[in-house]
Amino acid sequence: MSDLLASLTPHALAAPPSGIVEVMNYGRLREGMIPLWAGEGDLPTPAFICAAAARSLTDGETFYTWQRGIPDLREALAHWHERLYGGSFSPERFYVTGSGMQSIQIALTALAGPGDEVIVPTPAWPNFAAAVGVRGARVVELPMTFRDDRGWSLDLDRLAATITPATKVIFVNSPCNPTGWTASRDDLATILDLARRHGLWIVADEVYGRFVWDGSSRAASFHDVAGPDDRVVWVNTFSKNWAMTGWRIGWIEAPPVLGQVIENLIQYSTSGVAVFLQRGAVAALEQGDAFLAEQIARIAESRTILCEALAATGRARFVPPPGAFYLFFGVDGENDTSQLGLRLVDEANIGLAPGTAFGAAGAGWLRLCFARSPEQIREATRRLVAWLDRR
Ligand SMILES: Cc1ncc(COP(=O)(O)O)c(C=O)c1O
Repeated sequence: MSDLLASLTPHALAAPPSGIVEVMNYGRLREGMIPLWAGEGDLPTPAFICAAAARSLTDGETFYTWQRGIPDLREALAHWHERLYGGSFSPERFYVTGSGMQSIQIALTALAGPGDEVIVPTPAWPNFAAAVGVRGARVVELPMTFRDDRGWSLDLDRLAATITPATKVIFVNSPCNPTGWTASRDDLATILDLARRHGLWIVADEVYGRFVWDGSSRAASFHDVAGPDDRVVWVNTFSKNWAMTGWRIGWIEAPPVLGQVIENLIQYSTSGVAVFLQRGAVAALEQGDAFLAEQIARIAESRTILCEALAATGRARFVPPPGAFYLFFGVDGENDTSQLGLRLVDEANIGLAPGTAFGAAGAGWLRLCFARSPEQIREATRRLVAWLDRR
């Protein structure tokens, strides 16, 4: 290792490259490629959201701002939560961040450090574990299990057995990226009960909470079971619901007693989110229901096209995911999928993420994002099925 690198901190050096980005870099310039590797759709941000941001800029909202977020956005977040979950929410519970990823980073900075263990059910979005590692805390992977008759499940007895005196946080991502596993209200109540008994924090990532495929309007949430003073921190984002992945804006919801700490952590990282982005976010919350409903209907159609055609081949191992917008599937005879993402770029011109990017429990699986137009998903499915037939 060069002297320059050797002088960096061990935690920075240990941060792993993303296995998803590796395939993206390999295939992103291919002619005709259908990219299904990243967690985003093909729709640009709706015009009414962009217009609100543009207006803010031309109105001269170009100065430093509140660390916790502009009051209008914190109020809009409180109202949106009231509409979705019922009950009343104080704006004091909400903190605007520079993305869902930054929400995770701030939550973990507040909750876990060297000597602490963070339990992460896997397969999981790799950024959780990497963010824990960068903070010097230790990830304890809790492998979920797949059964052909019921899909992925989290063994709650096993979760209880994984808790040690060093455990500080349980990370719960439901609906889950990449498996689509979606916790029931009972699951969440049991996890909360465990956390209460052991004095643990829960970091609740419910960013796909509106993307559920059983006809209901949202997934079960810790909001259904937790009280306002429970040790639950929600990390969330504008990225998925309103097609704003490139904006980099999200939020944290936490008990107001954490307010000054979160404000300080924002101050010493980004010092706040640009006001014009926040104006766009207010428009998304206040006027974005119809766009979100359209997006959900479109993705539901794409999910059906993909799952039906792939099931008909009998060569892919999966159960249609109950939530989120990914299909996590295995291919007969491919037990090591680490290189398969690269091969699919070359052999089928489709971009999928290798399961190994999602922790040891993901070896042998591939992740396909179906948040794209039904036409594109039909063509990508055709290529995938043809590739399966050729093997
Ligand atoms: C489960 C989960 N949480 C959080 C995020 C972060 O989203 P962003 O950083 O775009 O706001 C993602 C993005 O893919 C995700 O899949």
